[in-house]
Amino acid sequence: MNAPFPSGPCKRLDVAWPFLLTALVALLIAGFVAAAVAHAPTRPLVWMVAYLVLVAGVAQGVLGLGQALLPAQPPAPRWRAGEWLLFNAGNAGVIAGTLRVSPALVAVGSALFVAALAAFLFGVRCAGGGWLLHVFRAVLAITCLGACVGLVLTLTGTAR
Ligand code: HEM
Repeated sequence: MNAPFPSGPCKRLDVAWPFLLTALVALLIAGFVAAAVAHAPTRPLVWMVAYLVLVAGVAQGVLGLGQALLPAQPPAPRWRAGEWLLFNAGNAGVIAGTLRVSPALVAVGSALFVAALAAFLFGVRCAGGGWLLHVFRAVLAITCLGACVGLVLTLTGTAR
């Protein structure tokens, strides 16, 4: 039986900070790229800015914070490190694959990303319930759907 997790806000933020910090970096990069390309935006770069804001920024922040706050016992540090790696390696693969027009890289990135979503789902399996858990699961479902649609668009060349 695991010892009860200390419930203070600082301990909970210890669990969330790698995700929150990475989300903040992604939002800052998105802002700088948007400012830099504003005079001559291209479709892939505008897509990347949207991806950095919605997925690497907002979704990562919500998932990292939700996982820290919702379960009585957040997942172990190694599990969280694995999630962080899968989520962000997945993002890097999807972005690099889209910019370099490499569907194989997008596919690998999407697979890592979906594996991260499964790990997040598993991470809150002991959470009691309530509307915040529904929001958490909705973010998982929407991003998973986005990844599937994005992969289909890439493999069929529809978005180009
Ligand atoms: C958060 C919800 C998401 C929304 C609303 C969304 C929406 C979209 C839309 C509208 C497009 C078409 C863009 C265009 O016409 O150029 C697109 C493309 C794409 N999305 Fe998403 N998406 C989401 C999440 C994701 C996720 C999580 C992934 C991958 C893990 C992803 C990967 C892609 C890829 C690879 C493309 C094709 C880009 C290209 O080849 O130009 N999306 N997405």
